[in-house]
Amino acid sequence: MAESGAAKAWILAFLLMAGLGIGTLVGVGCLVGANTCPGKSRPKQTSTDGKVLYLANCAACHGIDGRGSRGPSLVQGALGSLPTDDLIHKIGKGKPLAGMPRFSKELDEGQIRAVAAYVVSLRGGS
Ligand code: HEC
Repeated sequence: MAESGAAKAWILAFLLMAGLGIGTLVGVGCLVGANTCPGKSRPKQTSTDGKVLYLANCAACHGIDGRGSRGPSLVQGALGSLPTDDLIHKIGKGKPLAGMPRFSKELDEGQIRAVAAYVVSLRGGS
């Protein structure tokens, strides 16, 4: 039985150290304001300019011109003829499982509206 007692002590010690380690990481992260700090949301975006918001939030996946890269093109095909109201709805909801973030918390309604209008304006040339 002495052996299993020692094993238990090791497991306890391990859990303690692991807990301390994670606690320290999170604690230091929060102290320096890293975004690994739980509960810390990204700084609120204040721009209401559709283009600025699009470039900051969408261009990385949908391309600067909306023609798509990681994400599908927003200016051609099925999405290219989506009415603005549907765009607004889809941007807010996202498709988290498919890699499309939801923006309903990130952006307010007016900002989403502005982004949607900017996406529609990108279709002009295509
Ligand atoms: C991290 C990458 C990423 C970012 C950032 C991103 N998207 Fe997407 N988006 C995707 C992917 C991937 C899909 C395809 C999802 C699927 O398979 O249906 C998608 C789909 C969409 C759709 C179609 C959704 C549907 O229901 O069919 C719209 C509209 C859209 N994105 C607009 C935007 C806009 C506008 C922004 C910026 C506010 C944005 N996306 C930011 C990756 C991204």
